[in-house]
Amino acid sequence: MTPIVINILDLIDIGGRAVIERKLATFSSPKNPEIEDFIKNKAINFATGNYMASSFLLAQFGKNYALDKANRIDGSELMRLATDVLINIQRQIGGGIVYLDCEDKEVLTSFYKKQNFKEFDDRFSSEDNKKYIQFMRFF
Ligand SMILES: CC(C)(COP(=O)(O)OP(=O)(O)OC[C@H]1O[C@@H](n2cnc3c(N)ncnc32)[C@H](O)[C@@H]1OP(=O)(O)O)[C@@H](O)C(=O)NCCC(=O)NCCS
Repeated sequence: MTPIVINILDLIDIGGRAVIERKLATFSSPKNPEIEDFIKNKAINFATGNYMASSFLLAQFGKNYALDKANRIDGSELMRLATDVLINIQRQIGGGIVYLDCEDKEVLTSFYKKQNFKEFDDRFSSEDNKKYIQFMRFF
């Protein structure tokens, strides 16, 4: 199956908010509960409220662990799809730097380095008392 990327607002237009809410409720990311909470409880309000964040499903950067291992997307394919979205946006509004941060975990920092992101700093979040490693990449 070829994965497609679709903006959450388009999904709501097509399926209706209640249907999309039920679908998002099945998302699972035990390795990163923040992402699971975001997708289940915040993504719709963030997108429909004040446009603070727009989620693309493929979503926040995390795969859906509710799927069988055989049906899960590979991280580099997920990154390719996310980059395609950014390239389309770049065509419309310009820009060319991707910024992201992640928890200070070797599996995540080595994943982003493999995807050609450069670590440039870190930040401490007083919201959750965690250190986040900051990365950037030109595209
Ligand atoms: C980041 C991600 C897309 C990379 O995908 P991938 O390259 O295909 O790598 P995998 O999913 O196979 O993960 C590699 C290993 O790291 C572990 N891992 C992944 N995310 C982790 C996390 N947040 N915390 C701890 N371990 C994690 C996996 O369990 C796996 O361990 P294993 O080999 O012992 O099974 C994917 O791991 C993911 O969705 N992680 C959860 C969400 C997340 O943390 N996103 C980053 C937000 S900044």
